[in-house]
Amino acid sequence: MDIKNMDWKNLPFGYIKTDKRYVSNYKDGKWDDGGLTDDDMITMNECACVLQYAQTCFEGLKAYKTEDGKTVCFRPDLNAERMDQSCRRMKMPSLPQGRFIEAVRQTVKANERWVPPYGSGASLYLRPYMFGINPVIGVKPATEFHFRVFACPVGPYFKGGIRPLRIRISDFDRAAPRGTGHIKAGLNYAMSLYAIEDAHEKGFDENLYLDSGTRTYVEETGGANVFFVTDDGKKIVTPKSDTILPSITRRSVVQVAKDYLGLEVEERPIPFEEVSSFSECGLCGTAAVISPVGTIVDHDREISFDTSCGGIGPVSEKILKLLKDIQLCKVEGPEGWIEVID
Ligand code: PLP
Ligand code: COI
Repeated sequence: MDIKNMDWKNLPFGYIKTDKRYVSNYKDGKWDDGGLTDDDMITMNECACVLQYAQTCFEGLKAYKTEDGKTVCFRPDLNAERMDQSCRRMKMPSLPQGRFIEAVRQTVKANERWVPPYGSGASLYLRPYMFGINPVIGVKPATEFHFRVFACPVGPYFKGGIRPLRIRISDFDRAAPRGTGHIKAGLNYAMSLYAIEDAHEKGFDENLYLDSGTRTYVEETGGANVFFVTDDGKKIVTPKSDTILPSITRRSVVQVAKDYLGLEVEERPIPFEEVSSFSECGLCGTAAVISPVGTIVDHDREISFDTSCGGIGPVSEKILKLLKDIQLCKVEGPEGWIEVID
């Protein structure tokens, strides 16, 4: 990809090879010093644990260019913390939070020219990940691991940017009770691939999963948490569940909706039967940012939401604007939310 001819305003959400990536190796019970490399290829044994038993987890966060030319990241400490939780559950070694943030900083700095310009709407997506690399044939965790971070400039996750999404209630399940739905394990996404392809083939943008134990409560989509706005426009309601990913975007929205917009917030189990009483529905995540849902289809039933402000509802629009303004340092966010990369 030629950076000089990059159409920053029309970037897809896709992989582009950038200049440098960060690598650190774990062996004999310890991490090496780590560092940047030009090499985007990984060589591993045919029996590497990640290939046979999918021992891998990942994170996603973004770097932005601000109006005054700074490069900033949004809450990388929470990604570090969540990666640690994923690693514990997947029997992978802990990476100290400081090391995680330093790896992100080095990767952003080394790929500074790939950070999309302010005003383009695009951002530099960062993908930290860890996997077991030594050969393992009996079912057990690896003893050697790679931690890596690569970066690529991205546009909106859903093609076309802000528009009312059409999503469906999935007949497939995403996460089992007491399983791995609450961590960012690659295996959760592997098992969603069939469902996402099936949804796309049938004209839907995404799957909305119900709790797999009872199929009564709303959980989340394949790549984002979900929130609703009550009919009076005064309250945000978002699922509370042990089997969904604790989205950093959702936790941020909950806080600023209360503290900056004066909205009430309820985090609780949401029976799917209640969903038709809400006026707006949105998806929230690093990739999705805030993506408005126009319609949820449950087999032969359709539930529609207000998207009258140019493809998004009025309350969701306010939340989206505030979140973006905080991420771009146009509005001062709560202390510690912005990591300046200098
Ligand atoms: N839920 C799932 C399944 C995800 O893959 C993501 C993306 O990271 C999210 C929710 C949103 O989380 P975050 O806001 O931390 O990116
Ligand atoms: C993210 O938002 O960072 C994710 O990991 C979601 C993924 C489906 C792209």
